[in-house]
Amino acid sequence: MARQVWQSERRLTAIGRTTLSVPARQAVTDLQITPTTTVLDYGCGRGGDVRGLEGMAVPAVGWDPFYQPDGRVQPADVVLLTYVLNIIEDPSERRATLRQAWDLAGSLLVVSTRLTWERTKVRGDEYADGLLTSRNTFQHLFSPSELRGFVQEVTGVRCVAAAPGIIYAFKDDSSRLGYLARRILPSAQWLSSNDSASAIAAVVDHAERRGRLPRLEEMPQQMAEILGHVQPPDLQRLVRRTAEPAKVDAGARRSTLDTLLFLAVELFNGRGPFSSLPLSVQLDVRAFFSSYVEACRRADRLLLKLRDDAYVLGAMQASAAGKVTGTALYVHRRAVLRLPTVLRLYEHCAAVAAGRPADWSIVKLCHQGRAASWMDYPDFDRDPHPQLSSSYSVDLRTLEPVYSSYVDAPDRPVLHRKHEFLAPDDPDAAKYRRLSRAEMQAGLYANPHLIGTATGWQAELQRCERELRGHRLIRRPVA
Ligand SMILES: C[S@@+](CC[C@H](N)C(=O)[O-])C[C@H]1O[C@@H](n2cnc3c(N)ncnc32)[C@H](O)[C@@H]1O
Repeated sequence: MARQVWQSERRLTAIGRTTLSVPARQAVTDLQITPTTTVLDYGCGRGGDVRGLEGMAVPAVGWDPFYQPDGRVQPADVVLLTYVLNIIEDPSERRATLRQAWDLAGSLLVVSTRLTWERTKVRGDEYADGLLTSRNTFQHLFSPSELRGFVQEVTGVRCVAAAPGIIYAFKDDSSRLGYLARRILPSAQWLSSNDSASAIAAVVDHAERRGRLPRLEEMPQQMAEILGHVQPPDLQRLVRRTAEPAKVDAGARRSTLDTLLFLAVELFNGRGPFSSLPLSVQLDVRAFFSSYVEACRRADRLLLKLRDDAYVLGAMQASAAGKVTGTALYVHRRAVLRLPTVLRLYEHCAAVAAGRPADWSIVKLCHQGRAASWMDYPDFDRDPHPQLSSSYSVDLRTLEPVYSSYVDAPDRPVLHRKHEFLAPDDPDAAKYRRLSRAEMQAGLYANPHLIGTATGWQAELQRCERELRGHRLIRRPVA
């Protein structure tokens, strides 16, 4: 490919990487990049991701118009287009580059760019639809919804936000739905098995957990080999004799709700034909619904419920975990699986549209309006009153996310009564509850308007002559 004359110093935007970039790491964690997938890093810069992936035995190649002009531009299962679109000054070239990368992707295109909230980190003068820095490099900072919309428009497929600013565009519905299923449904857990008896015990355990017998194709290979000779009716009889009916019923109820949750997210993200669903979901639909049509109808109703204020508020008030305020429900990451299905759907729809950040501790779901925020309190477990470090919010009506960092804020918001965000049976809940009780008795919550930030909270501790030792409140020693 002939080198073009660029209006900016694009080559200067490429940094030397010693670890995988965030989007490449995301694709690896999401099992989209494995040693069995080929990868093309399109616009690979100095090639750090290619080397990193090769180090993980992934067959990866890179091409870059400046650094690797002779690299192989060849189709690959996964194409990475990371931090390239934002440095291209010409919108029509941006579009053409995205199109070329999409054409080369066999299964998945991963696109990432720098985002609008990095504006304070990029100094430069306005130029075309971006900024020109003093080094003559160009940056068009995308808003997350602009990026998703752009990738959807050029590829013509429904995209999923894997994380803020990281978009996945899948070539076919079954790859997209397989990815969504892994994100949404609890992964099948198998007891280890190395002989017929332990393999049958593992099948019984699966039946009790999932509410149905697994098919051979769903089992780990070793187990499938051990049980390959057992006829399905014999296996059924064996399991029926051993499994506890109450557990199987509870498993079936859980799986029915999980399937509805998945199908409702699927409707939100773009529904595919039954044959494009992952095998386990197809089997769940067959086992727990009279037909796919019936399952979809119920999932559609569930999605509709998300619009019903009274229903959503009722679900929040009935939730086994989390704290409901006048505007929203707040729940800790460890307790989200305990939320009613409609609220799990709420959180998943927001995550699929905007990307769930990697680091977060509490999610806030508004019942006045529809917006989700993932808030990060990095010291939630250690600090009795952890400070907020960042918040990433998305309004479900506009799908426009907003990111706020509090790391450099002079007075950061702090959290109180930590137990309220957890499920009541969380191992730490009792300790946190004891502390909250002691704080209340000491009068520390008498002025709620004063204790929202670290400074105000410290002042109240002083006023009440108290201090904290870990999760214990003690009287401040007299000076
Ligand atoms: C910010 S760097 C990103 C490099 C790499 N993807 C990474 O994340 O480390 C942008 C790269 O895009 C390359 N580039 C510029 N124009 C391009 C185009 N039209 N198509 C593909 N790559 C391009 C530049 O040479 C530069 O190396």
